[in-house]
Amino acid sequence: MMPVRRDLRFNLPPERAADWHVQGSHVTHFFNALSLLFPAGERFFMDSVRHYRDQIDDPVLRKQVLGFIGQEAMHTREHIEYNDLLQNARLPAHKLDRRLTWFLNVNRKMPKSFQLAMTVALEHYTAMLAGLLLEDDTRVGGSVQGYAQMWTWHALEETEHKAPPSPDEAPEMLGEARRLIDLARERDIVLRLLGGLAIRLVTPDLPPRTRVGQDLDFGSVKSSRKPLMEMLEEQGYVGDRNFNALYGDKQLYFAHGEHGHAVDVMVDRLHMCHTVAFAQRATVLPYTLSPVDLLLSKLQIIELNEKDLDDCLRLLVSFDVSESGDGRGDVIDGRVIADLVGDDWGWWKTISLNLERIEAALAGGVPATVTGGRLDPRAGVQTLSHILQDTPKSRRWKLRDRIGERKRWYELPEETPHH
Ligand SMILES: [Fe+2]
Ligand SMILES: [Fe+2]
Repeated sequence: MMPVRRDLRFNLPPERAADWHVQGSHVTHFFNALSLLFPAGERFFMDSVRHYRDQIDDPVLRKQVLGFIGQEAMHTREHIEYNDLLQNARLPAHKLDRRLTWFLNVNRKMPKSFQLAMTVALEHYTAMLAGLLLEDDTRVGGSVQGYAQMWTWHALEETEHKAPPSPDEAPEMLGEARRLIDLARERDIVLRLLGGLAIRLVTPDLPPRTRVGQDLDFGSVKSSRKPLMEMLEEQGYVGDRNFNALYGDKQLYFAHGEHGHAVDVMVDRLHMCHTVAFAQRATVLPYTLSPVDLLLSKLQIIELNEKDLDDCLRLLVSFDVSESGDGRGDVIDGRVIADLVGDDWGWWKTISLNLERIEAALAGGVPATVTGGRLDPRAGVQTLSHILQDTPKSRRWKLRDRIGERKRWYELPEETPHH
């Protein structure tokens, strides 16, 4: 969320400073005491963020930081005025402000990172307090004009300080993906999601991972290629002419003319460290590639990172691995994996290594993000290990096995302008 600086002023009636709340002076003093925390506290917050302002490269985050500082500056100005009214009403506002300033100055001797961490934590609490104030009309409702408005304004803006630095764009992206897939379906064009967004879509019971990438990654088939290109152009997506001319038989690349979201389409196969030929199974599920292809798109990665590992586990706690999948969309079709690892030593090797990694990760416990899953992921890993072991191996496999790891068994993904 982008905090916006709003320059507001409130004509606080000074004679009501010690008795402005509709529920009486005790509640008034509770709020007044809170107000005493703000000038010194918010100055500390602003400074702790300013220390880092020059190190921020991300233009959006820079703007958010400026918006945050701008808002807090306005709050400070208004609370100084408010607290002066308290002082004039013979309440010890200035003395308490000096005490807080002294205490915060002690904290200013701490490392800058510590000061920033304090701010993050305190902003979180402030945002929660603000939420409590806003969710119930009786918190300040019906109180003296000016005071009620000021607290509501401050609370509203504080909720913006809880915003995570990277907004979750996935719901919007998923909406656009579904729209395009539905449109394609009407025209008999094959279009299915793959990658992180696809995994999110087929595991709706699990807590979503917030960042899933900025691209829409799709799979399609050769016969759909032409009409799909026409459809995307018609929907405002502009094709990368050079890229599509060079690689278009395998992969298409588009970016939207207005919002800039990129669309990447793999045709018939996903080709990275190994090849996942998904065309035959592309329409098993309505919006995504089949579970086994989603899993293989991760298991083919030679350097599985934490996100990929998380994706594998998400699939394994949501779908059974079936040794005779029969082309079903509600299980991970083990036959597809058997066909690959029985003939292709490289695939066999890479999946073996990745299963070991997954097992090692699970030895430390199932991560929180996937504990809500229906299945024990260890069962899926075990079935996959059996498949790797028991599948009869071809002559080609056995010949390659003699060379083993002495020769590279995977491909390094081709460097193209978009990957
Ligand atoms: Fe504030
Ligand atoms: Fe704040």
